[in-house]
Amino acid sequence: EKGGFPHFMLKEIFEQPAALQNTVSPRVKDGHIDLAIPLTESQLAGFKQIHIVACGTAMHAGIVGKYLIEKLARTPVNVDVASEFRYRDPILDKDDLVVIISQSGETADTLAAMRLAKQRGAHTLAVVNVVGSSIAREADSVLYTWAGPEIAVASTKAYTVQLSIMYLLAFKLAACKGTIDAAQEADYVAQLCAIPQLLEKVLETSSRYEELAKQYMHAEDMFFIGRGLDYALSQEGSLKLKEISYIHSEAYAAGELKHGTISLITDDMPVIALGTQQRLLEKMVSNIKEVKARGANVLFICYEGYEGADEFADNVIYLPLSSDIFAPLASIIPLQLFAYYISSLKGCDVDKPRNLAKSVTVE
Ligand code: M6R
Repeated sequence: EKGGFPHFMLKEIFEQPAALQNTVSPRVKDGHIDLAIPLTESQLAGFKQIHIVACGTAMHAGIVGKYLIEKLARTPVNVDVASEFRYRDPILDKDDLVVIISQSGETADTLAAMRLAKQRGAHTLAVVNVVGSSIAREADSVLYTWAGPEIAVASTKAYTVQLSIMYLLAFKLAACKGTIDAAQEADYVAQLCAIPQLLEKVLETSSRYEELAKQYMHAEDMFFIGRGLDYALSQEGSLKLKEISYIHSEAYAAGELKHGTISLITDDMPVIALGTQQRLLEKMVSNIKEVKARGANVLFICYEGYEGADEFADNVIYLPLSSDIFAPLASIIPLQLFAYYISSLKGCDVDKPRNLAKSVTVE
């Protein structure tokens, strides 16, 4: 049932290109996006504010969604963990869209947050993987992610397909609002449809991560740093490592380091630095040099063709070139494989980490 893989998690990491394709292609026709939800284009264009509410990895997909929607559709987006949102008396009104993201569709806090949003009259749009789950049944609109069953407790392919829905939603909202034109929509859609091949290329290099894991598996703490979309990915990379390898780690916005955390950087502290955002690369590199100067052991993830990375990084992972906004879909794979091999080499129960349940149906 594991298809020849030692763990479900590794199998599911390798299923990502197909899962992405299955989620995106039914919603794309002739360069346009058809979400097949009961909302007209003018309703989609009319939302004044968007809230994305979820837990854990699903919430991390929401953070990427915020960047994409705000950048392309220019609608303000608030991302919240469901357990905070539901008790915060959030400001919600009838012109708001509330996007609920959940792999299982059964997470107690996420379900309660969705019920609250419905009560307040907002439109609820659920992004769910399990067909017929509670969240899918109760939402006003549903966008299924077609990842297939995800068995490993650590979410991998469900995250990637949640991201792909965030792209489709951002492009669709932008097209409806007119912040992108039809040609730009078609161009973005074509780029998204080409991502599965790019992911196959990243997966071809998977054997390298075992070597890297051997170097970093004895660490007690690690930091993940990035800016913009790379910061969003750092948060997911850090969660993956923590939950399955039991190594403490923190994700930090690289520019925030010198406001406190840099005091923790001492000799040999592993720092996983993401540098896929060209616009922010120079600033990122100076942050890396700052941690390096304090003794950090830097693993740097950037695009192939970036020269000089090995002058300031101890290890470099080169990703096949993609444009900045699509980088998360490629850069998540190194982070997943890094966490996977560390967990597996440490002899941890990769698919069923201690104290965790696949679906958190109680508060
Ligand atoms: O089923 P859901 O997407 O609602 O689950 C949300 C979180 O419990 C889940 O993503 C959790 O953080 C994973 N173990 C992360 O790998």
